[in-house]
Amino acid sequence: MQKKISLSQFEESVFSVIYPYLMKGVRLFNPEFGHNLALVSLRLGLCGGKNPWQDDPSLSLQAMGLKFPNPVGIAAGFDKNALAVTALARLGFGSIEVGTVTPKPQPGNPKPRLFRLMKDGAVINRMGFNNNGIQRLCAQLAKISNVGNGVKTQANVPVGVNIGINKIGACPERDYPLQIGLVSRYADYIVLNFSSPNTPGLRDLQQPQRMEIILQSIQQLQPNHPPLLVKLSPDLLDAELEAIVEVVMNNHVTGLILTNTTVSRPDNLQSDFRYEPGGLSGRPLRQKSTEMLAKVAKLSQGKLTLIGSGGIENGADVLEKIMHGADFTQLYTVFAYEGPPVISRIKRELVTLLKQYQVRTISELKGVALS
Ligand SMILES: Cc1cc2nc3c(=O)[nH]c(=O)nc-3n(C[C@H](O)[C@H](O)[C@H](O)COP(=O)(O)O)c2cc1C
Repeated sequence: MQKKISLSQFEESVFSVIYPYLMKGVRLFNPEFGHNLALVSLRLGLCGGKNPWQDDPSLSLQAMGLKFPNPVGIAAGFDKNALAVTALARLGFGSIEVGTVTPKPQPGNPKPRLFRLMKDGAVINRMGFNNNGIQRLCAQLAKISNVGNGVKTQANVPVGVNIGINKIGACPERDYPLQIGLVSRYADYIVLNFSSPNTPGLRDLQQPQRMEIILQSIQQLQPNHPPLLVKLSPDLLDAELEAIVEVVMNNHVTGLILTNTTVSRPDNLQSDFRYEPGGLSGRPLRQKSTEMLAKVAKLSQGKLTLIGSGGIENGADVLEKIMHGADFTQLYTVFAYEGPPVISRIKRELVTLLKQYQVRTISELKGVALS
């Protein structure tokens, strides 16, 4: 019998042939220019006009009271200023996290500050929270707000806002609540970034006593916030992690993101840029961040929503994170290398894997690898 090929499958096949060449072309530019080019193309609708892949119902899930069409989200840092939210949703991401945003606009660190480690499937960045500030981010989200209809934007998938602090003049106990107050009406969830390695002193906010003071100030000043998550560094020690999980569980935090980039440098990195200062993401981060996810899953005993982020390159990597306790996942580096076709590829691989495991929904596999 002849197999019918739908238009969307046809489009997907065409894209998967064209994009490798297109992405090769993008790599001729320096990485930050390539990134900006991708954002502009998305905004102008030059790439990813529509989601070529209708999400299989087996990929849908619920977390934090929100519905997600699939577990593959775009991580923070790609769309820092919320310029391409609806375009990213049309590409097929199941959730979108914008930011990191800070109270005031700031230029970030001097360039160059973004490095491709091609041989390692990795990136090192020391962007330093370059962004337009919370006011302009809110104005962007206001343009696409969708009040009173499930999720809060026209993206029709959950949109999280990741917030941080400025390099100069920061006061975390003031700045996190202030930004939460401004962005709560547009955000389906909010992430407190305490883990970027490129803002001096930021990771010190992960010290449990300090974190507790900030969380208490949020609760005091902005008690009616959307679900709140904390994004952690993969470089925390086990003892620190235990104390942090206890603090967040006692202070109105709904979940954790495991993990941000690492300042460690595995011995087997091969690329020339491997010793550039900054946060390492992509393939070399995968195992480290999944191990931390598993530890947190055991410590939190199902009481926290967990997002797995770090080194995802295929459907098996997504499933590995879910089996180690993640509710859903996020990726960035592989998207920077492969472009939009990677989203459909990963979702297709996931659907095949779910059939092999003979489950109806992906959530049935949550935590099954935790011993
Ligand atoms: C260029 C770049 C910029 C990033 N910027 C941010 C950021 O602003 N805030 C944040 O929380 N994480 C940021 N991240 C970390 C990612 O959100 C993600 O957690 C990390 O890269 C691990 O996922 P990956 O291995 O799939 O890239 C950034 C990552 C990269 C590569």
